[in-house]
Amino acid sequence: MCGIVGYIGTEDSKEILLRGLEKLEYRGYDSAGIAVVNNEGVHVFKEKGRIAELRQAVDNSVVAPAGIGHTRWATHGVPSQENAHPHQSTSGRFTLVHNGVIENYAILKREYLQDVTFKSETDTEVIVQLIEKIAAEGFNVVASDAMAMLQVTDQYVELMDKETVIVTKEGVTIKTLDGEVVERAPYTAELDASDIEKGTYPHYMLKEIDEQPLVVRKIIQEYQNENNELHIDADILGAMDEADRIYIVACGTSYHAGLVGKQFIETWAKVPVEVHVASEFSYNMPLLSEKPLFIFISQSGETADSRAVLVQIKELGYKALTITNVPGSTLSRESDYTLLLHAGPEIAVASTKAYTAQLAVLSILAAVTAKTRGIELEFDLVQELAIVANTMEVLCDDKEEMESIALQFLATTRNAFFIGRSVDYYVGLEGALKLKEISYIQAEGFAGGELKHGTIALIENNTPIIALATQEHVNLSIRGNVKEVVARGANPCIISMKGLETEEDRYVIPKVHETLSPLAAVIPLQLISYYAALHRDCDVDKPRNLAKSVTVE
Ligand code: F6R
Repeated sequence: MCGIVGYIGTEDSKEILLRGLEKLEYRGYDSAGIAVVNNEGVHVFKEKGRIAELRQAVDNSVVAPAGIGHTRWATHGVPSQENAHPHQSTSGRFTLVHNGVIENYAILKREYLQDVTFKSETDTEVIVQLIEKIAAEGFNVVASDAMAMLQVTDQYVELMDKETVIVTKEGVTIKTLDGEVVERAPYTAELDASDIEKGTYPHYMLKEIDEQPLVVRKIIQEYQNENNELHIDADILGAMDEADRIYIVACGTSYHAGLVGKQFIETWAKVPVEVHVASEFSYNMPLLSEKPLFIFISQSGETADSRAVLVQIKELGYKALTITNVPGSTLSRESDYTLLLHAGPEIAVASTKAYTAQLAVLSILAAVTAKTRGIELEFDLVQELAIVANTMEVLCDDKEEMESIALQFLATTRNAFFIGRSVDYYVGLEGALKLKEISYIQAEGFAGGELKHGTIALIENNTPIIALATQEHVNLSIRGNVKEVVARGANPCIISMKGLETEEDRYVIPKVHETLSPLAAVIPLQLISYYAALHRDCDVDKPRNLAKSVTVE
């Protein structure tokens, strides 16, 4: 029930604080105090009794432009001058006013502050002394990932290959294998501790699926300049413009994002693109064009297979751009350029928001490159991405429907096939990967037209076929492919886009720009996979046999 005031400005703070405390006196009036700070240091005035008594105790010759004040209603310790706030740590480095009760103050005192001489009986002094102790203690930590130690620090120093580090309480010494000391400034990890908490969600995966609209909006913001135009670093645009061919190299979900990225870059910026699985590329390098530019897509920025290719192409003297979620990651450090995903930490092993973030960043890269190359797009990407973000929200809100689709098609099945044409095929690959990795249903993605060349032999009575129909130019063909599998007993789940729908469709996605449809169409697939895994009692966030960051070949 105490009262707190504070002031910082150009005027003398004493009178402002005292007047404020007078207004708060109804909250407690057994004692009061102020601490003001000026160039000479911190001056504390406190007194038992009313504010009027405190006024008498204040030294009017002290003039200070900042201060804090407190009026007390005693809980821990009798009303007295010693127990009045503000409280100071032994050295005077920290000064504190506090409202509330520190319930574990006795434990803190016993465990951490046995050597401290206390001036008061209050719980508040325990906190201010503890702050001084922690601040003076000196510690260093080591971790594979900054987020592991976020509760104790946001300052990190990266360790490179072929370096050793000696860590003591007082300091960190980095040396090369030859014994040369390396000076490297720490960086601030821009992570919010709340980003790595599940909050009220049962699983990280569901939380991360729900974060996707926000992530897309954040990306729009991050890539806009002060005139609200989409903006990419000039060096990157120069490299994109100079390249006669772009080689996208990635693994898993990031590879699937690369396939969609190829569509963006080729359709809008008119630069030819090849997309390669990193683990294949490194042992079977394709014949490269004269002026290649490499784009590595990696959520973690640590994937060994992708890095192996990066090392190879750097040795050949080529330029590399990494699109990653982790600033300072190995791929980012070792590339010439980096574009960040701004998706926030992705904890669930199955990638969701990083995938859509990769698509959003790739779309911006493609659109801005097109502009640099003098190609005028007949739509406004910011507007279209904003529509995508709103649509994602609608889709994320439709969880009951997604759960019922999962139960209808995937509750007990042994296998499932995803089909689509054009970018729907690429989204189908990602949908199949999501489903198989977390529910262990054998799920495979195929190009709609490819089924009849072999895979159709696998269709049995009730085999679920998840067919995507978001592309007008292949709408009739994909529907033809659905008919072919239905004639052989398959159980079709058609997910289409508004404007292309028919009565047989199981779910219709609201209309978004056709080329950007993967950003929306993937969400039902992520949610269906999530619910399928949930109902099959799988460990959604930590599926068997997998790891989030694959740092071995
Ligand atoms: C699947 C998944 C993986 C990763 C792949 C590459 O949900 O997360 O397929 O996409 O291991 O990882 P990054 O993107 O970190 O290079």
